[in-house]
Amino acid sequence: MTAVAKIALLGSGTVGLAVLRRLAQWQGSPRGDGLRLVYAANTRLALSDPAGLDPRNCANLLPGARRTGRAVDGDPLAALGDGGIRILIDATADAGTAARHPACLSAGVHVATACKLAAGTSLDHWRAIREACAQSSTGFGDRATVGAGLPLLRSIRELVAGGDHIHAIAGVMSGSLAWLFHHYDGSRPFSELVREARDSGFTEPDPREDLSGEDVRRKILILARAAGFAIDSHQVEVASLVPPALAAARADEVDARLHLLDEPLQALLSAARFEGCSLRFVARLADGKARVGLEKLCPSDALHGGGGTDNRVAIWSDRYRAQPLVIQGPGAGADVTAAALLDDVLHLRAMAVGKPLAA
Ligand SMILES: NC(=O)c1ccc[n+]([C@@H]2O[C@H](COP(=O)([O-])OP(=O)(O)OC[C@H]3O[C@@H](n4cnc5c(N)ncnc54)[C@H](OP(=O)(O)O)[C@@H]3O)[C@@H](O)[C@H]2O)c1
Repeated sequence: MTAVAKIALLGSGTVGLAVLRRLAQWQGSPRGDGLRLVYAANTRLALSDPAGLDPRNCANLLPGARRTGRAVDGDPLAALGDGGIRILIDATADAGTAARHPACLSAGVHVATACKLAAGTSLDHWRAIREACAQSSTGFGDRATVGAGLPLLRSIRELVAGGDHIHAIAGVMSGSLAWLFHHYDGSRPFSELVREARDSGFTEPDPREDLSGEDVRRKILILARAAGFAIDSHQVEVASLVPPALAAARADEVDARLHLLDEPLQALLSAARFEGCSLRFVARLADGKARVGLEKLCPSDALHGGGGTDNRVAIWSDRYRAQPLVIQGPGAGADVTAAALLDDVLHLRAMAVGKPLAA
């Protein structure tokens, strides 16, 4: 008989809906038969059925639910019940949900998350997650948090498990900043590209969230910790692209002040191009120290190359000493992120039934 894992999904935004679409495609297949969606919620509506929800129905009902002003009446842990294989999928960007991950894990519920606010913030929180997993034999799936499921965390963990020491990691890890600097050739002001990226959904609605480098700080923290460097958030040096007058702007003033980005970036671009190089927003970890900021990359650099919203990450270790292992590919997007979340779900279920899947 197939051991069925009960699933609770939080979030029905771009990623949550893509998870529901993929679950719907799996209905009637061996993969789908091993999973039962018992709870799906956003901040406006919670759907629950111990016999199993239809993912298509959830995808129809959740996005259009009305906001009532009252907190939604739902409890994913109660819906998952007391026994059996239970997995919470976090497809929110909610700090409160991330804060509850250690408690979920301690209660015997595995977690698969796309949200960086759990493992990519304070060291104490990251340690609490690890301790809860160790004490309750639960798993924390995080492959969707960096590179939207590109085999970055997996590769680092396999190298470490194989006895390698990780010497350095460097990467272009933000899809939105990769797009901006890939297109920035000086023919249009940078602010114009930021508006285009924002309107196309490549950046957050407030592009300062991308331009500040905070998202990249969380990503390099997650990779560094997987590589064996237990560093804290404040130990990552972040050089934000946002000038103080733009940082201080109210949300409704941001658009009018985006031009403040143009002059300093034009000067940096001219200097880089004079040497035949380009600009990229890069995160680096070396000797246990991490920094994030804009860099001039020349054609000989391992990170040079890649287009669109591609992530490109280089890893140096004992076996990849001179030439790094380079991993490149789409590092953002709802479908790849949802696929990574569900890969984690399949691995967590397989781990729980004692038949781990191939990496
Ligand atoms: N989009 C990508 O390409 C991508 C790639 C990698 C990782 N991620 C990460 O994936 C996560 C989701 O991203 P997204 O683009 O799908 O965000 P999104 O479109 O803003 O959707 C977030 C969803 O979370 C729901 N939510 C917030 N708090 C909740 C709570 N306490 N309980 C239940 N639902 C809650 C929201 O509910 P309402 O609809 O009611 O507001 C919304 O449905 C984020 O952490 C993001 O950083 C995204």
